[in-house]
Amino acid sequence: MPDLQAHYPLEPSASDMQAMGQDILTRIVEHLDQLSQMPSCGDIEAQALCSELGKEPTPDGETPLKEVLDPLFSDWIPRSFTTPGPGYLGFIPGGGVFTSALADFIATATNRYTGVWKAAPVLLQLESNVLRWFAEWMGMPSTTRGLLTTGGSQANFGAIVSARESLLGEALRDGVLYTSSQTHLCVRKSARLAGILPDRVRVVGVDAKYRMRVDELAETIQADRAEGLKPFFVASSAGTTNTGSIDPISDIADLCTKEGLWHHVDGAYGAFFYLCPDLQPRLAGLPRADSIALDPHKSLFLPYGTGALLVRDGKVLRAAHAATAEYLPEPQGHEEFYEPSQYGPELSRDYRGLRAWLPLKVHGVSAFRAALIEKHELAVSAAKRVAALPGVVMDADPQLSLFAFHLSWTGSDQAAENAATQQMLERVNARGRVMITGCSVDGQFMARVCVLCFRTHAESMDRCVEDIATEVAAAMAEKVA
Ligand SMILES: Cc1ncc(COP(=O)(O)O)c(C=O)c1O
Repeated sequence: MPDLQAHYPLEPSASDMQAMGQDILTRIVEHLDQLSQMPSCGDIEAQALCSELGKEPTPDGETPLKEVLDPLFSDWIPRSFTTPGPGYLGFIPGGGVFTSALADFIATATNRYTGVWKAAPVLLQLESNVLRWFAEWMGMPSTTRGLLTTGGSQANFGAIVSARESLLGEALRDGVLYTSSQTHLCVRKSARLAGILPDRVRVVGVDAKYRMRVDELAETIQADRAEGLKPFFVASSAGTTNTGSIDPISDIADLCTKEGLWHHVDGAYGAFFYLCPDLQPRLAGLPRADSIALDPHKSLFLPYGTGALLVRDGKVLRAAHAATAEYLPEPQGHEEFYEPSQYGPELSRDYRGLRAWLPLKVHGVSAFRAALIEKHELAVSAAKRVAALPGVVMDADPQLSLFAFHLSWTGSDQAAENAATQQMLERVNARGRVMITGCSVDGQFMARVCVLCFRTHAESMDRCVEDIATEVAAAMAEKVA
């Protein structure tokens, strides 16, 4: 028998597949085992390496897998923020649970087509179940339909497109969309991409706790109506990225109902905390939203590339995205079944349902709820200790799992405070044990700590508080010296 494998390099033999898989699994387990020892900011000084790599020619011949994997694991992966590590407290973490990675491997290795229902009905049913679970967790009704997206940005975009189609039709130019000064940038970007130009996007002010001012929102809506414009969409935040503030969702829902506006909640950071009974009152009104953007790759700890959109009236989501062609199977018209291509912009797509369904099935939702409760408690405890440090002004207490603060001292002005806070943050990060990031709100630079990696536990937070305490003390000593 001729050795057929030699003729088909893209089809490795069963034993080769076993060996390659085993090699990669061994490296991954080792990598994950070392996460807590890696510098949280990673070694991102990589300009020279990137320039060199940028000259890489098309590989003509074969390279042994080992030669490809060695630098990837030993050098290239470590040259990134250690986002899955316990010390990663910057931006909005998440982590990426291992069972989700296994699900991705299964999904890509079996590579079934999940753009249309007919091609993989049972696999799509699993994804549909995940969306129904999400809707149930958010307290949304059974009319709700949704889509697993690539992230929160795409989910926010889908919400704007659905509202625009249903409330404005072709009269785009008159439609006005409302955000706050703390709304995530992707909402304004999505508005632009959806044809709502910047002069029709209002930025409503916030109160002392960085929450959208409902009185100002109401006044702005009236002013726009008086101009003959058509207010149609309010984006509130269930946890802002800068300070973790939660907009008055219930009051905004009341106003939107009264005014006939679509109320969208960007819950990319915070909405999954609605799973925690004690935190539900902080997010009161969430179940009344017309749509919610969720980010399972943040507060459900799934790998990057996993977002979700829920729309209360599923028919509206479908009407905004329905499209087909003669060469495709007739879309499943049955309400009960999930046809992703009719609910979003993609046709061919990765099977992202499994990476959410499998971990939820294997661990159960209670494991995720417990982790969220733990992150909240860790943030509350750390914030209390940081707030007690001389020189610290707590700008935002943790509503969910994020707090923000800056340095201040007798006679300080904003420019000096900003410089000192920035320097303190950099020094904390240089110690390597944690990574925190900053933000500017109304000219005030704040250091922010977001506890949301599922691997972050009490020891990491103790290290975080210790390093902040050391560097705050050093900064204060410099100020009085
Ligand atoms: C509140 C909020 N909304 C939306 C987004 C955008 O989500 P993604 O990065 O998944 O597109 C983020 C990202 O950090 C966020 O924090």
